[in-house]
Amino acid sequence: MSNQLHRRDWLKQSALAALGLTFSARSLGGEDYLPRELGIETGLLNLGSNENPYGLAPGAKQAISELINTANRYAYNVPAIQSFKKELAEEYGVTEEHLLITAGSGEALNLLARHCNKGNLVTANPTFGILPNTAKKIGIEVREVLLDSGKVHDLQAMAKAMDANTAHVYICNPANPSSTMLKPAVLKAFCEEASKKAVVTVDEAYIDFLDAPDNESMISMVKSGNKNIVVVRTFSKIHAMAGLRVGFVIAAPETIKALQANYFGNSNFCVGSLPIHAAMASLKDTAHRESCKQKNAAAREYTHKALQDLGFKPIPSSTNFIFFPLKNYGGDFAKDMLEKNVILRSSVLPDGKWGRVSMGTMEEMQKFIKIMQTVKA
Ligand SMILES: Cc1ncc(COP(=O)(O)O)c(C=O)c1O
Repeated sequence: MSNQLHRRDWLKQSALAALGLTFSARSLGGEDYLPRELGIETGLLNLGSNENPYGLAPGAKQAISELINTANRYAYNVPAIQSFKKELAEEYGVTEEHLLITAGSGEALNLLARHCNKGNLVTANPTFGILPNTAKKIGIEVREVLLDSGKVHDLQAMAKAMDANTAHVYICNPANPSSTMLKPAVLKAFCEEASKKAVVTVDEAYIDFLDAPDNESMISMVKSGNKNIVVVRTFSKIHAMAGLRVGFVIAAPETIKALQANYFGNSNFCVGSLPIHAAMASLKDTAHRESCKQKNAAAREYTHKALQDLGFKPIPSSTNFIFFPLKNYGGDFAKDMLEKNVILRSSVLPDGKWGRVSMGTMEEMQKFIKIMQTVKA
């Protein structure tokens, strides 16, 4: 079969997947790879999954190649990676007992939804789908509170949605798909109150794209002994390791113990030794992270302004993606953009249709804007 035919088949499959695109766990599933073996690496703009387009830190690449000959061993049999948990604990100022390493943070969110398996869950709408969708699957009532008109978490309404049966609150800050953030003091005050009644999971996947002082983590609440605050982090975004699957949870030691027990006793079995070694190297490379952050900010500023010039009103983004209303767009935006070789997300919310585009490199965003010039909305 020719490459051309493979490519069309693949696009068609993706388009079908895109038809179901809301910002749910299902939509964030496996359709987002580029079949490079089919030679279509360059034709497609893959702006659908909030990945980091700048690649692994050089040290992380080197670490993987150096350790490749130990891949026949379980992670705990590879001396070079024994200290990962210790190093991660040092980086975040917690103890190893406060940490659970997971195969991507999606796995942590899934575990947490199953851990809080009673009462109801309060979260936002829209939000990142994995945790609420798992909760729904196991029969938990999910109370979805609309974001406010600026697409920011409506904390007052979320507090109101909580009752005596609320066991869990999930907040993604900065938020996906809306790209907005809550000021640390505001989020902290909410967490303080909410955690008196329920477990509060704060998903900080995009926190590294924020500047100080907005990048203050809720990890400080765990450190000061709040047993109901759980923070979830990932190596997929600023560390550019989405395909390597490393995430982690920081929470009270008893919560970590309970989560660990559901991970057939030892999460070392679940996370690969090469990804762990890459993560260790990446942690040390602050310059690479800073460079990714700066390039992302430049691409984001360009894209925001260019979308405005085209008459869209994008939400000011605190992340590596932009969320924008699609005005009077008539069709299925994600599907139509796929026809133009762009992978992105779109969804229908109570206030209309919205698009979410991840930041690629500046060159990719310039190509994206050229394509957007042909869109009638
Ligand atoms: C808010 C948020 N949390 C968690 C994840 C999952 O990331 P991973 O499983 O790659 O760590 C994502 C992925 O896009 C996300 O947007």
